[in-house]
Amino acid sequence: MKKILSLLMLSLVLIIAACSSGSDSDSSSGTDDDSKGTDSGGKDSGSAGSVEIFSWWTGAGEEDGLLALIDLFNEKFPDIEVKNAAVAGGAGTNAKAVLATRMQGNDPPSTFQVHGGEELNKSWVAANKMEALNELYEANDWMDKFPESLIDLVSSDGNIYSVPVNIHRGNVIFYNMEIFNEHNLEVPTTMDEFFAVAEKLEAAGVVPLALGDKETWEATQVFENLLAAELGADDYIKLFNGEIEFDDARVVKAAENFDKLLNYVNDDHASRSWQDSAQLVAEGDAAMLNMGDWAKGYFVNDLGLVTNEDFGYFAFPDTVGEFAVITDTFGLPTGVEHVEETKEFLTFLGSVEAQDVFNPLKGSIPARIDADPSKYDDYGKDTIEDFKTAKLFPTLAHGSAASEGFVTKANQAVNIFVTQRDVDNLISALKSAAPEM
Ligand code: GAL
Repeated sequence: MKKILSLLMLSLVLIIAACSSGSDSDSSSGTDDDSKGTDSGGKDSGSAGSVEIFSWWTGAGEEDGLLALIDLFNEKFPDIEVKNAAVAGGAGTNAKAVLATRMQGNDPPSTFQVHGGEELNKSWVAANKMEALNELYEANDWMDKFPESLIDLVSSDGNIYSVPVNIHRGNVIFYNMEIFNEHNLEVPTTMDEFFAVAEKLEAAGVVPLALGDKETWEATQVFENLLAAELGADDYIKLFNGEIEFDDARVVKAAENFDKLLNYVNDDHASRSWQDSAQLVAEGDAAMLNMGDWAKGYFVNDLGLVTNEDFGYFAFPDTVGEFAVITDTFGLPTGVEHVEETKEFLTFLGSVEAQDVFNPLKGSIPARIDADPSKYDDYGKDTIEDFKTAKLFPTLAHGSAASEGFVTKANQAVNIFVTQRDVDNLISALKSAAPEM
């Protein structure tokens, strides 16, 4: 038995090691902008050293932006070696576990991808694992260059702990335009309209909604939008602040809608990743997809689709004028070796130039308010505008709205729901996890 256990442990370690590229960047996707921008984080560093950048951006739809970012940094700071320590798995499915082990073992990467909100604040800042970056913000004159709402998400007790590189939107539905045209469908703006469209598609033999919930977060992402649709942004926030209970009638209604929505998804959803589900829409095998707009990066850069020709987009029904915020940020863990080089990288990451190289590829919009909208396609331009006026709400599936402990339990409860479709069970599981929020 012991032997079997150690063999199992060994294979687990090998799988994790295989998932992690851990190698130096051999990026080939370059940027053709070779100018040394004025807003690039200052002069080139003369210091030799290295920066290890930890993220989960590997493979299709994920790594193009990161590699372009690393190329530009290499160009500007040739003396600083970049180690791209990306661990595969959407939404950090594997990366977060590897990171936790490294942080617990006092072996932090120089900087790591972390969502603004509770994932940063409750997991790492509260454990005294992060350095405050107030001086970096002051030195770069950043306080009015990022939206206040975003600075709030990366702050605790008056200190700022990370640099946002982007803003992804989670409450968006991408749709196959040919299918919508063929069936004379209008984009739905309410849940009632959504179900009417889904019914027509189903009757015509088209899968209405693509789902890929092989990784647990994907179904949770759909559920959080259903919650926002019933509660509105303000009460959604209250729900995760503990001011509204999980057995509130609107939460129950969201769960009932979830049950109904699952009638309209592809049968093989449990074996698909988010990219696999996006492919269904790209290839005309399903009509719609609710996915964060990294799917836009995937459609355009990896699958060669054209925005507003091959696929269109609309706000998740009944969340028009609201914006599910997912922000990828990078901070400075305590006890890293190359502090100056890491600060150099973070300064670069916060620059307009870096953000405008990264985000058009990633599908996200820049976190900086003074970035250049002309670098973005119609989707990006629309989203930049929407963000300015929308009511924002933090994502649950990507760790901003609640602690990692709660998110893990919510993911489990949602995944059980997807198979059992038991509304009462979902509500009581969420209610009993609530004290961990
Ligand atoms: C999110 C992350 C995005 C994207 C997505 C899919 O958590 O914020 O940048 O990578 O996961 O992996």
